[in-house]
Amino acid sequence: MVIKKVCCIGAGYVGGPTCSVMALKCPNIVVTVVDKSRDRIAQWNSDKLPIYEPGLDEVVKQCRGRNLFFSTDVNTAIKEADLIFISVNTPTKTSGNGRGRAADLKYVEGAARMIAEVATSSKIVVEKSTVPVKAAESILTILMANQKPGVTYQILSNPEFLAEGTAINDLVHADRVLIGGEDSPGGQAAIEELCWVYEHWICRRNIITMNTWSSELSKLAANAFLAQRISSINSLSAVCESTGADISEVARAVGLDSRIGPKFLQASVGFGGSCFQKDILNLVYICESLNLHEVATYWQQVIDMNDYQKSRFASRVIESLFNTVSGKQIAILGFAFKKDTGDTRESPAIHVAGKLLLEGAKLHVYDPKVEHEQIMEDLTHPSITEEPEEVRKNVVLYNDPYSATSDTHAIVLCTEWDEFVKLDYRRIYNSMMKPAYIFDGRKILDHEKLEKIGFTVQTIGKRLSRTVVPRAWASIVQV
Ligand code: UDX
Ligand code: ADP
Repeated sequence: MVIKKVCCIGAGYVGGPTCSVMALKCPNIVVTVVDKSRDRIAQWNSDKLPIYEPGLDEVVKQCRGRNLFFSTDVNTAIKEADLIFISVNTPTKTSGNGRGRAADLKYVEGAARMIAEVATSSKIVVEKSTVPVKAAESILTILMANQKPGVTYQILSNPEFLAEGTAINDLVHADRVLIGGEDSPGGQAAIEELCWVYEHWICRRNIITMNTWSSELSKLAANAFLAQRISSINSLSAVCESTGADISEVARAVGLDSRIGPKFLQASVGFGGSCFQKDILNLVYICESLNLHEVATYWQQVIDMNDYQKSRFASRVIESLFNTVSGKQIAILGFAFKKDTGDTRESPAIHVAGKLLLEGAKLHVYDPKVEHEQIMEDLTHPSITEEPEEVRKNVVLYNDPYSATSDTHAIVLCTEWDEFVKLDYRRIYNSMMKPAYIFDGRKILDHEKLEKIGFTVQTIGKRLSRTVVPRAWASIVQV
């Protein structure tokens, strides 16, 4: 079979950018991205795409209507496709067995059932969404149980490694592409078909093939390793704050060891995003199901440390503001889980803002890309507050950082947007109440300069000159 038509079920953060780049690099393949959400598809077909991703607009403009199509006609796209990507959401279950840990596969199952119902010719079905190990088996079971005469299926695992904010570059210059499939002639042939698609722009030696379960587990493992590095450096940031060591210096020293390397050692308010926490929870759940309790406990610590870091940062803000933020005006700069995305899933800003609201603070929130409705939705979510109406009264959303910070007691920086580095902090200082505080949760600002302007500055993993040393530590530090 030569792949002529590809269908992608799910036009989200994974399916949209991945298929746009595929269409760009494979002009001989027609790529149709389908979604059950009419709004989402309408946005993909408009000038304002549903997700903000640097470089994505240009790619979509170049291919849309040529060999890239966005549609709600799921049935036709499935019917016509040789190869189908499943890129639907796999959130953590919120109820029932495995609640709070296991991945909810209802959307994956829904997509598999749709394929089974509609397909009239043989298909290669590729799981792209992050799924628990052995999900491919479940998809195959559903497809085989509903198989029509003459229709065969091959299931492949092809996990996505793009990071939001750098997705286009990650897709165009992928470190590696992973393809897992069955160790049978049919399975190997399907792997070759998908390799052929990627070989349009990825060099063959960077396309790794393996068995399906290894591929599924590799995706969880890669995210667990990355998150573990952040939790490790964040754990040491707490030691730095208490001793006078500087986490940036420690990270630099450690990262210069070529066995360790410098990436993912940036201490922060905590990691967020739709993948890290979900994937580790998934790994923990699998380990528990396999009676590997020690392994489960080991990985759970990566999440626990992240929760500790988010809480620790919020507590420091409260303690520094004379142990009460009740009625105080606090500006939250940045709400996305990282810069260059409008995505707020698991954003540490939600946790920090939620804790400040619980203590009675009045928040002024500004983010360059996150939609206002999204911020309100996140802060009024039942997991954050029992009093959504109170939250609505105590949160004001702004379209520019100067209005957001004016007349506030403190600034809490939660996302490392480049524009925050370039702000006129003297102007901001003059408009704030005094003493004026800045809590830099991303370590991106020029702290010395801010102190010279008059700010009291606190950051992660470093004690600045005006930072008060907790009493318990003072004697140790003097020694
Ligand atoms: C991640 C993986 O990197 C990607 O391969 C996978 O496909 C999906 O999950 P993503 O969540 O989009 O990508 O972004 P990433 O750059 O990994 O950042 C995740 C979180 O870690 C962000 O909140 C980021 O701010 C934080 N982070 C990252 C740090 O706190 N310190 C670092 O050194 C790096
Ligand atoms: P991700 O970050 O994994 O891409 P998103 O939530 O951004 O996740 O996108 C997943 C998309 O999948 C959503 O737009 C959702 O509407 C879509 N989706 C889920 N189930 C189906 C389905 N059965 N058919 C079509 N689209 C679906």
